[in-house]
Amino acid sequence: MRAVDPAKFEASMVDHEMQNNVATDGLRAINLSSLLHTQVNTLCSLQVSKPQEDFGGTFAETVEEWRANAGQSVLGLCFTTYSGAPVGIVLLKRPPASPDWTPPSAVSLHGLKIAHTFQGQGFGRKALELAIDEARMTWPDATTLILAVDAGNSAALSLYRRFGMTDSGPIYHGRIGLEHRLELSLTR
Ligand SMILES: CC(C)(COP(=O)(O)OP(=O)(O)OC[C@H]1O[C@@H](n2cnc3c(N)ncnc32)[C@H](O)[C@@H]1OP(=O)(O)O)[C@@H](O)C(=O)NCCC(=O)NCCS
Repeated sequence: MRAVDPAKFEASMVDHEMQNNVATDGLRAINLSSLLHTQVNTLCSLQVSKPQEDFGGTFAETVEEWRANAGQSVLGLCFTTYSGAPVGIVLLKRPPASPDWTPPSAVSLHGLKIAHTFQGQGFGRKALELAIDEARMTWPDATTLILAVDAGNSAALSLYRRFGMTDSGPIYHGRIGLEHRLELSLTR
C-alpha cells in the first residue's frame, strides 16, 4: 500500500467535481490513517445514489464508523484511480470489532462503496480485489472473508457472487430486510 500524494489527491478533486470520465486504469488502495484531514473530508463528500444509501450508508457515515473504531481490529481503505481521483471506500474488521456472528478466523468487510459517477466502470470489482489482498496481507492468519448484503441490493450481490462468494448459511432478517451472509476463502 502506497502513501498518498496530497497534491495529487487534492488536484484530483477538480476532475471529480467536473465529473470527468476517468479511464479505467485500475485503482490503488490507501490506508485512511495516512490521509490528511482535508483528504478525509474530500472522501466524505463523495456520494452514492439516495436508494443506494439505504443499503450501504453514505461515505461520511463509513468514515465516521472508521473514526469511531480505528485501531488494530479495523482497517479503512480509500480507493483512488492511478491519476489520484478518490472514488471509493471500504472497512475491514476483525473480531472483536466484527459483528458477533463473525468466526474468530474471519475478516468482515463493511461499507464498500464506489461514488455514483464512477460506478459501472469496473472499479467495484477492482476495489474488492484490493480489499481482499489487504485483508490477506494485514491478517495472514485469517482464513475467511465474510460480509452481509441486503437481498435487494442486486448490484452488490452480483458483484460478490461473480467474485465467488457463497452463502455461509440461511438468509437472515437484517437491518432493513432480508440479508445474505456471504463468505470467501482467503487461503489460496
Ligand atoms: C456495489 C458497487 C460497489 C459496485 O460498484 P461498480 O463500480 O459499479 O461495480 P463494477 O463496475 O466493478 O461491476 C462489477 C460487478 O458488479 C455488478 N454490478 C454493478 N452494477 C450493477 C448493476 N447496476 N446491476 C447489477 N449488477 C451490477 C455486476 O456483477 C458487475 O459485473 P459485470 O460488469 O461483469 O456484470 C456500487 O454499486 C456501490 O457502491 N453501491 C452502493 C453501495 C453498496 O450497496 N455497497 C454494498 C454494501 S454490502
